[in-house]
Amino acid sequence: MDHFTYRNFDLCCEQVSLRTLAADVGTPAYVYSKAALLENYRAYDAAFAEVPHLVCYSVKANANLGVLATLARAGAGADIVSGGELFRALRAGFPPSTIIFSGVGKTRDELREALKAEILMFNVESLSELRTLDEVAREMGVRAPVALRVNPDVDPQTHPYIATGLKTSKFGIPFAQALEAYADAASLKGVEVVGADIHIGSQLTKASPFADAVARIAALVKTLRERSIEIRTVDVGGGLGIRYRAEAPPTHREYATVLLPALRELGVRVLLEPGRSIVGNAGVLLTRVLYRKQTGEKTFVVVDAAMNDLIRPVLYDAYHEIRPVTEARPGVPGETVDVVGPICESGDFLAKGRELARTDEGDLLAVMSAGAYGFAMASNYNTRPRAVEVLVDGNRYTIVRRRETYEDLVAGESAL
Ligand code: LLP
Repeated sequence: MDHFTYRNFDLCCEQVSLRTLAADVGTPAYVYSKAALLENYRAYDAAFAEVPHLVCYSVKANANLGVLATLARAGAGADIVSGGELFRALRAGFPPSTIIFSGVGKTRDELREALKAEILMFNVESLSELRTLDEVAREMGVRAPVALRVNPDVDPQTHPYIATGLKTSKFGIPFAQALEAYADAASLKGVEVVGADIHIGSQLTKASPFADAVARIAALVKTLRERSIEIRTVDVGGGLGIRYRAEAPPTHREYATVLLPALRELGVRVLLEPGRSIVGNAGVLLTRVLYRKQTGEKTFVVVDAAMNDLIRPVLYDAYHEIRPVTEARPGVPGETVDVVGPICESGDFLAKGRELARTDEGDLLAVMSAGAYGFAMASNYNTRPRAVEVLVDGNRYTIVRRRETYEDLVAGESAL
């Protein structure tokens, strides 16, 4: 169900009018729908119900404590990639036994913190990391539960910056080296091999690359078992795409249907690491039009949100639908505009050459599908305070992160 709809010409998140919200909390503002978050999480949970499984939400997509706590209370686990994300996940209430630690460059300190917290599993990405983890665990007198992230060399057919499962990428242990790596891991006293892991990329809109990757990992698990290396969990990663524009990604159920036959046969516990498909369409970036500008060549709509708030358009050429917060009345003329922010870079745009109903100074716009990798990738470039974040639940809302102040921005600095 779409949780962002017009009621009486007013775009609402659930039952809260974005116009009212903007008047209350200001702009730019990230607005998330709690119902959408829960619906997306539960869709995964239901789709994999027939096998033992845990949906570990990928914290990097949106690490707000309010978002995390909502998912933790619903029963999700967490997929983390840093000590900072471990801190957040624990603070938000994820039980350590539901936290998995991924990423190519975990430091010794981060490994130690995660071992101390007794997390569910480490997804190890190289032999050097494996040896370091073994050492750190032995120093602490514990054994680290480990899955090896194997790179299946499958083309995910997505943007090159977010493809991770090709053999040219920095991620995972090359498929051809996997058996040897597992034999190595099995011989170490500080680690206990429990699983296998893949993640081939993000914003995948076809099911076939997932199917190919899982087939490869299933074959590997069988070979490992023949060699007496027991694999009890398979982590299929994240990456399921969402609809930004005209994409038609597989539904949760279609995704599960593709993966389940191979996983069922293995009899393993299935871990999932979805990020975008849980939070992406659950959030919008609310912004106000500051100025209009006609150059003869182009019409610019200058808004108060910028590339520091949402970097996806310039970084990945990403398309985010833009909707007027007050629904355009029939007959309002359209125009082709660039929607740009106040930052001093030509890369500071939210949309280029976009057909929109005519907007004027003071109008509000909603940049859709901004819940994932929106605020999470925001910066303070041009010394812009990061936006307020709001979580809507029915007809109520909570400020889950207040807008940064100028004082926040200089805290920790020194003028000598
Ligand atoms: N697991 C691992 C190991 C990952 O590297 C990622 C994402 C995920 C899970 C979650 O993937 P998702 O379900 O969200 O596709 N900033 C980019 C996306 C980067 C994805 C990085 N890895 C963007 O805005 O499109």
